[in-house]
Amino acid sequence: MSQRTMEAHYRPNWELTQARGLLGYNCGYAAERGNESFDEHQQSLVWRLLGDTKIDENSVVLDVGCGIGGPSGWMFERFKPKQLFGLEYLGSSVQAAGERWRNRDPRPTFLQGDAHRIPLADNQVDVIFNLESALHYKDKRQFISECQRVLKPGGRLCLGDITTRRKWLFLPVEMTNSLPSQFTSSVWLWSAADYKAAFRELGFKLLNHENAAAPIADSLADGLDEIKGKNFAETWGNMRGFRGRVGFLGTLRQLLRLGLLDYDLFQLEVPGGNG
Ligand SMILES: C[S@@+](CC[C@H](N)C(=O)[O-])C[C@H]1O[C@@H](n2cnc3c(N)ncnc32)[C@H](O)[C@@H]1O
Repeated sequence: MSQRTMEAHYRPNWELTQARGLLGYNCGYAAERGNESFDEHQQSLVWRLLGDTKIDENSVVLDVGCGIGGPSGWMFERFKPKQLFGLEYLGSSVQAAGERWRNRDPRPTFLQGDAHRIPLADNQVDVIFNLESALHYKDKRQFISECQRVLKPGGRLCLGDITTRRKWLFLPVEMTNSLPSQFTSSVWLWSAADYKAAFRELGFKLLNHENAAAPIADSLADGLDEIKGKNFAETWGNMRGFRGRVGFLGTLRQLLRLGLLDYDLFQLEVPGGNG
């Protein structure tokens, strides 16, 4: 994985979010259809992934793969934790997240780094939030063991990711992973079963698991309707990569509907806490 290939993948996302006033880079969760905007679907996905996870003014939270800082900011505003670190690989996204929060105090701390080597000390974090980012990690076991290392006993990992039960179908995508393209960039898909086995081996206790493919596909359908809505004609021609992104999101929705992709939400705990 390089900054160049990852940048090629996320540049159209950046243009789309800027054109549509969005703060997140995720697919969203249609808890309710008809009443929520795509921005609200993206926030719903954050609350759905957290579930009953407790975050309060004493909590240290780490958002790994925080993108342009939407979910970090929403969690920070709602729970006012003692500290919230957003860790992100792409330098341009770390900068965008920092810019958004520059005039606020207190504010989340955004760090550039790699999920495979979390730049924090052992036993420091109460909650790790990881949304739609681990699909890009080549060594997910390494990432999960890093989560074990930095979480306190009793700490939580909330991980939501695009998965598949038909990995062979996506081998061609993996073969083109190193090309700077908006469609492929370091994509290594696991199944829910792969995740569960790794969580077990690495000592996590599974608290909750949801296959959310249906509400995620619904959210993408709503999002695409919204994106193609007002001013679409004017923005369509102007944005490099915009058309490709719309096609990409439509394909993702179809693959989720057909069951060729899944979307799994896991809540896990490191044993040994007081609660
Ligand atoms: C689909 S976006 C999701 C962003 C954010 N979680 C959200 O919901 O808005 C995935 C993010 O993971 C980041 N990412 C990919 N590989 C990473 C790695 N090894 N370490 C840290 N971040 C990574 C990407 O740059 C991208 O910003």
